[in-house]
Amino acid sequence: MGIDYTQEIHRRRTFAIISHPDAGKTTLTEKFLLYGGAINLAGSVKGKATARHAVSDWMEIEKERGISVTSSVLQFEYGGYCINILDTPGHQDFSEDTYRTLMAADSAVMVIDASKGVEAQTRKLFKVCVMRKIPIFTFINKLDRDANDTFELLDEIEKELGIATCPVNWPIGCGKGFKGVYDRKRECIITYEDTQKGTREGESREIPVSQEGQAAAALGEEAFARLQEEIELLDGASAEFDLEQVQSGILTPVFFGSALTNFGVEIFLKYFLEMATPPLPRRADVGLIDPAERGFSAFVFKIQANMNRAHRDRIAFMRICSGRFDAGEEVRHVQGNKVMRLSQPQQIMASDRKVVEEAYAGDIIGVFDPGIFSIGDTVCMPKEHFTYEGIPTFAPEHFARVRQMDTMKRKQFVKGINQIAQEGAIQIFQELSAGMEEIIVGVVGVLQFDVLKYRLENEYNVEIRLENLPYEHIRWIENRDLDLDALTGTSDMKKVKDMKGNPLLLFVNAWSVGMTIDRNEGLVLSEFGRD
Ligand code: G4P
Repeated sequence: MGIDYTQEIHRRRTFAIISHPDAGKTTLTEKFLLYGGAINLAGSVKGKATARHAVSDWMEIEKERGISVTSSVLQFEYGGYCINILDTPGHQDFSEDTYRTLMAADSAVMVIDASKGVEAQTRKLFKVCVMRKIPIFTFINKLDRDANDTFELLDEIEKELGIATCPVNWPIGCGKGFKGVYDRKRECIITYEDTQKGTREGESREIPVSQEGQAAAALGEEAFARLQEEIELLDGASAEFDLEQVQSGILTPVFFGSALTNFGVEIFLKYFLEMATPPLPRRADVGLIDPAERGFSAFVFKIQANMNRAHRDRIAFMRICSGRFDAGEEVRHVQGNKVMRLSQPQQIMASDRKVVEEAYAGDIIGVFDPGIFSIGDTVCMPKEHFTYEGIPTFAPEHFARVRQMDTMKRKQFVKGINQIAQEGAIQIFQELSAGMEEIIVGVVGVLQFDVLKYRLENEYNVEIRLENLPYEHIRWIENRDLDLDALTGTSDMKKVKDMKGNPLLLFVNAWSVGMTIDRNEGLVLSEFGRD
């Protein structure tokens, strides 16, 4: 290649932030960007005032609800590192996009509200991280408010998520009595000062814990005595810090702070950058692909149509896994078996899109897609032919029957619903004997129902009505030669097929799944669809 791009790759850190809505993900991201100098005014990342330019406002629905449906990517520089933050939608209803975004990240930052602990959404997203064995860093937020007991919070993470915890720092009080954090590695106290919601610079002091007089004066005798006790307890009770375990996702370093008042954020960022891995080798059908030793390669993790209504465009988001991307060079789209130039490559930022000339392993680029890419596709150097491991399809948890209002618009309806299904936002199923007139949609998050309705109306001019169905569990039938008519299940079970014609069953509850397996000898059910 001539140029040594290894350094560029090594300084990249690509991560996703996961949290339950309202835990403070947006606020923390804003503070990160502030340190990176990417913004100079906290609040301008996803602030309502700048929504006009935000890439995530491509759909009216988002504005109406004040939420971000699509995930975007933010890139900034800090301390010699080039950081890519993959934003995952923070609202309750999320889609497969959220899961897939995690497939493109090398590590995850989990934000937890100190007064709430582990919440439902964190649990779901966390499962995907565990499956991928990516490092998870925990930021326990809102210490400026009353918080749950720190030991209990750690215990909850360990029990609920099944991951060992290792506090890197430790909070000193909380709420009105919040005094700062204790940095265990450097054995010093970092004092907190109210910054009036981050509107002014806080004056933090660092006091070595060995300087007892000074520390007691700063924290108060009582708080200092408690801290000393807790440090002792902690040293005896918590897991030892082990970078290897962190990097293989079995131990999460835990940090405490307050994103809103901008306390503990920079310390977190610094430690995170030291502990997180640069882009690592990824599995392909020819073995592991090393990011620095191979030429350009990437995989498509997300496709989004009509981001810009005026242009009716379709963008394929790619995570670069190896080498250097050069906009002028040809690449091979492996699944399409075509050598081509990627068209209009751009970096999609929160507030802007900019054309990229070059990018490196770890980066995300969006390219114009004339309808040739599918999720999971690989692009690589023209002389190569390998494919990256596929992205799993996540089982939908909500189902509805789709009724088309105007039967004259059959064609548009079929085109629209198929297109949206191809993007992966929804999955579609049919009655076993029926054609496209009877369609059932399955989604991971219920918001996708609204998205489907909205998009069919606005992009395809088709009106639909959705009738919610009670199913919550989906199982594909693995037996290839099974007589479906002879299959007997519970009365609430429904037999359908997916778009590839694979038969599957929908159930209202887990009990019915078990009953059906009991009643049909040899029946093999799977939670995942076949490719
Ligand atoms: P999210 O992206 O995870 O959904 O959360 P977001 O950052 O939007 O934060 C949710 C709410 O929690 C916001 O308040 C935010 O100001 C507040 N918050 C975030 N971090 C902290 C913290 O460290 N301490 C305290 N006390 N509050 C925090 P809001 O009133 O819902 O919104 P806003 O009017 O402040 O924008």
